[in-house]
Amino acid sequence: MILVTGGAGFIGSNFILDWFAQHGEPLVNLDKLTYAGNVRSLASLAGDERHLFVRGDIGDAGAVRALLTEHRPRAIVNFAAETHVDRSIHGPAAFIETNVVGTFSLLECVRDWWSELPPGERQAFRFLHVSTDEVYGSLGPDDPAFSETTPFAPNSPYAASKASSDHVVRAYHHTYGLPTLTTNCSNNYGPRQFPEKLIPLMIVNALGGKPLPVYGDGRNVRDWLYVGDHCSAIRAVLERGRPGETYNVGGSAEMANIDVVHTLCDLVNAARPGLACERLITYVTDRPGHDRRYAIDASRIRREIGWTPSETFESGMRRTVDWYMTNGEWLRSVETAEYRRWVDLHYDASR
Ligand code: NAD
Ligand code: TYD
Repeated sequence: MILVTGGAGFIGSNFILDWFAQHGEPLVNLDKLTYAGNVRSLASLAGDERHLFVRGDIGDAGAVRALLTEHRPRAIVNFAAETHVDRSIHGPAAFIETNVVGTFSLLECVRDWWSELPPGERQAFRFLHVSTDEVYGSLGPDDPAFSETTPFAPNSPYAASKASSDHVVRAYHHTYGLPTLTTNCSNNYGPRQFPEKLIPLMIVNALGGKPLPVYGDGRNVRDWLYVGDHCSAIRAVLERGRPGETYNVGGSAEMANIDVVHTLCDLVNAARPGLACERLITYVTDRPGHDRRYAIDASRIRREIGWTPSETFESGMRRTVDWYMTNGEWLRSVETAEYRRWVDLHYDASR
């Protein structure tokens, strides 16, 4: 079996659903259920004995040790993190607590337990750390895409906390021989993403006839990847990645934010004629320290692992808009009082 952390979040829940669609290997899902975690995302697994959900913190050494001893996972996939750049600007402490201290604590528990395993199991074990391209900083318009050897230059508290955790993971391989793998992926989109990130926020606001808040001039560029393609990359790296290695994952789909918003408006307008979403586009104050451009060179994972994405930006966006339009109950379950407080705090301040 494998242990997944943060499996009630956006990518983790998609990973778990895809995992069980592919094979029957059991999985323990350790998630703290912060505002971003939602057990409803895994509702289709109710009663499925292959999935064991445990509410807990990756930084709780006692709980992690107990899970490792009881379940003896052959691998760990670490998704658990605080992940929203804007929240990291308003309150960085939680990002250092979970992404840096929490990942360190998890690694310490794993090292302790792993070092006592019989040699065969020790060698076969994998710790896969899921990270982001934001650790590399910001690109100019003509700079080459980020490769695995691009120096880290994180600019937001979120990016800095992920860069720190990547370094600690690397050190645990080099110092202790822990068989680690790290993936640095570009921006994901798809079903079950909390509506604070660009794409789900815009879909939800468009459907509700609310303003579509575009930061700055709307020309910041991100390299978008459909979440199912990120999940297939993680599965491939888990099976075929070289311990100690890092792999960049991306969809070669660079888009300016304003073009993403127009694509999304076209899809929503086609499904709900009369909404005329473009009229809702509202330029708001830019994010402080806003990275201008991200782009991923995914040639290593293509060449060494044989992974390629299967969705285009257009096909992935169509699936995503469809999902949000047909899953109103899921949406209502995340639009809590805490969510509304965040929207009021952040968007009132940025107008
Ligand atoms: P998310 O915010 O949707 O989910 C994070 C999950 O982690 C939640 O279920 C939350 O409850 C859980 N969690 C938070 N703190 C925890 C803790 N201390 N202990 C246990 N669980 C905890 O995030 P996501 O978008 O699914 O991202 C997952 C991972 O992928 C993160 O590590 C993120 O840095 C990385 N990543 C995300 C993207 C993206 O575009 N979303 C891109 C590249 C990499
Ligand atoms: P986001 O989804 O927060 O991801 P990240 O900052 O980690 O790349 O934002 C994606 C881009 O969209 C980023 O350039 C900021 C921009 N953005 C807006 O213009 N308006 C918004 O309301 C949000 C949330 C993001």
